[in-house]
Amino acid sequence: MAGVGASRAPAGPAPRRRADPRDGKADTESMIRFSQVSKSYGGGRDALSHVTFHLEPGEMAFLTGHSGAGKSTLLKLILLMERATRGQLVIGGINLGKLSRRRIASYRRGVGVVFQDNRLLADRTVADNVALPLVVSGVTHRDIGRRVRAALDKVGLLWAERRLPAALSGGEQQRIGIARAVVNKPNVLLADEPTGNLDDAMAAQIMDLFHDFHRHGVTVLVATHDLRQVARYAPCRHLALDSGRLVANRLTPA
Ligand SMILES: Nc1ncnc2c1ncn2[C@@H]1O[C@H](COP(=O)(O)OP(=O)(O)OP(=O)(O)O)[C@@H](O)[C@H]1O
Ligand SMILES: [Mg+2]
Repeated sequence: MAGVGASRAPAGPAPRRRADPRDGKADTESMIRFSQVSKSYGGGRDALSHVTFHLEPGEMAFLTGHSGAGKSTLLKLILLMERATRGQLVIGGINLGKLSRRRIASYRRGVGVVFQDNRLLADRTVADNVALPLVVSGVTHRDIGRRVRAALDKVGLLWAERRLPAALSGGEQQRIGIARAVVNKPNVLLADEPTGNLDDAMAAQIMDLFHDFHRHGVTVLVATHDLRQVARYAPCRHLALDSGRLVANRLTPA
């Protein structure tokens, strides 16, 4: 496997130097910063309540919590699939509450995401699936081919580029989802229970890939039910949600 390229484009979220009024120190570090973020879908209790944490560029973090704890909601706020009801989200120096409409697309290009059901298009080849974010971004035909092959190489699936997704195993399909998530060279990679449908060996392979991106400087945040994964990839950050509240934020020692 060729590994993640070191020369990632600076597009999308990037850390910026700015003053942090909460702790008085210059904030040169954060890639992801939640300050007192709450999310209500209307109805009963908040899906997220006063969530505050930050991740440094290149950090790897796991997000755990029971079903309904708010894991997917937290990731959706970073992806701008949902908006915070209260509080502030700053991703790579970009305050999402103030992001103008015309900058949303370029912001999103800097954030890759992998879902449990990898949402591949069944009637398109593996290469076409991975190319999708580039087509949407208006990348030229020649560059698409080159970047798709580089992304497939990173996940060890260059040989499958002309196949249909159905001709691949569940773990291989998930790796295609990862290739698609990183084809735009994002600074931030999010995953929502990416190994939920896989056996232990496949799950370990997928998590190793995320860890590889982390080692190459990508900020990685993975929602998972599996606490064993947190221990295996130490040192890493462990964020735990319980009924929308952040109840743990610790660095798991190596
Ligand atoms: N679109 C929505 N409309 C209304 N309520 C929602 C919506 N999405 C999530 N919720 C509620 O918000 C809370 C948090 O849901 P969320 O999907 O973030 O949890 P989760 O930790 O990802 O759970 P799971 O492990 O089952 O995926 C739950 O109570 C859920 O019912
Ligand atoms: Mg979820």
